[in-house]
Amino acid sequence: MVDDSRPFAPSFDATGGRNRLVIGISGATGVAYGVRLLDAVRELGLVSHLVITKPGEMTIGYESPLSPKEVAAKADHVYAAHDIAAPIASGSFRTGGMVIAPCSVRSWSEIATGVTSNLLTRAADVTLKERRPLVLLIRESPLHVGHLRSLTQLAEMGAIIMPPLPAFYTEPRSVAEIIDQTVARALDILGYDWPQQKRWGEDLAKGRRRRGRKGTTDAQ
Ligand SMILES: Cc1cc2nc3c(=O)[nH]c(=O)nc-3n(C[C@H](O)[C@H](O)[C@H](O)COP(=O)(O)O)c2cc1C
Repeated sequence: MVDDSRPFAPSFDATGGRNRLVIGISGATGVAYGVRLLDAVRELGLVSHLVITKPGEMTIGYESPLSPKEVAAKADHVYAAHDIAAPIASGSFRTGGMVIAPCSVRSWSEIATGVTSNLLTRAADVTLKERRPLVLLIRESPLHVGHLRSLTQLAEMGAIIMPPLPAFYTEPRSVAEIIDQTVARALDILGYDWPQQKRWGEDLAKGRRRRGRKGTTDAQ
């Protein structure tokens, strides 16, 4: 059984639902971000509420060594994408926010219009209307002006648009480190400190710049 009484994250005040995090995995490439987010949320002692779209399950099949069932098993609560009566479909079910990782064009477009066709986009709409943080790890490239317009609309509505772009100043040695860095930054936005990340000016050499061969400095 799920223990919903786990401690609150210290950076949040003790209001109801702050220890719950809604996680969405849509059908964009990069399902590893959502999978690692589930690991991180567990490590932080938070309670995860997961919804995966059908295309999300398909991309898990293409990209992950785990099956959709194995990914779902990492969450405390899992809902079917068609279950629009699930707790996370209502604003009265309090949460600390939602992260969609990765977030496809289709999902972000639905959220931008409010015309939501499944639980993932409905839960995101609810997160926005309740003025809770909604972090979108949007995944498409390149972007046309229609994409950019809907993303602007989302930003105006309060969503946090966070394309999963690596920071190379952390000198990542593996894809796993790149993924963890982005997941940690998403959790930062929600106020959770996941220790996997290297912070500029803290864990990373403060202001160190490497000398290039010809006396030039490498860009950060
Ligand atoms: C392997 C694979 C990778 C995909 N990558 C992306 C992507 O990066 N971005 C995107 O917007 N759609 C991508 N798609 C297409 C979406 O899955 C498709 O538009 C789907 O309708 C999204 O539905 P959803 O938002 O409900 O998950 C991909 C599909 C597959 C099979």
